[in-house]
Amino acid sequence: MGLNTIYKPRTFDLSDLKGISNETLATHFKLYEGYVANTNVLNERIAELIKDGNLDATKAAAFSELKRRYGFEYNGMVLHEYYFDNMQKQGTGDAAKDSSFRKIADTSFGSYDIWKADFVSVGKMRGVGWAICYQDPSNGALSNHWISMHEEGNIAGYTPILVMDVWEHAFIKDYAPVDRPKYIEAFFSNINWDKVNSRLATTGSAKA
Ligand SMILES: [Fe+2]
Repeated sequence: MGLNTIYKPRTFDLSDLKGISNETLATHFKLYEGYVANTNVLNERIAELIKDGNLDATKAAAFSELKRRYGFEYNGMVLHEYYFDNMQKQGTGDAAKDSSFRKIADTSFGSYDIWKADFVSVGKMRGVGWAICYQDPSNGALSNHWISMHEEGNIAGYTPILVMDVWEHAFIKDYAPVDRPKYIEAFFSNINWDKVNSRLATTGSAKA
């Protein structure tokens, strides 16, 4: 991957979710496509600045500003892909009793219920961002993190396991801003646990 990579927006087979309207999804897919487009624009503009093999000193400020925006646009693209991928039509609610996720949540937090209380509480935090459950690849442990905007708080090298967008655009057509907890409840009823479980490393050093 690099400056010459052209990212293409993915499509997601999502509609008729519980508590998240098709109108919300349509708007959200458009916003996601904007992150993909902007990632491509940043790469094009940086490629132009660096094409001679060195950075003209008069262009350093422009280069720096574009590079600072990388985290916002790239994470905006990638986190939305994780988010849409970890939802499905006809979701089943909480993680199955015998699932890998539940076992690892039990090990990491003492119980799945405590893991969930922690994750939901992260999702209710004031501010604009994401709640993400990561797995530490060195020991398999799960931890829940608040990500400001798209880029502040991501843990280098950790694997995103469950990704929940809590920007207001994710629910404002369906719920008032103060009703973010209702959106979080709806999100949980639409989780694709097969996808979540598939992201877990359950062998080697990373296991329950
Ligand atoms: Fe979003």
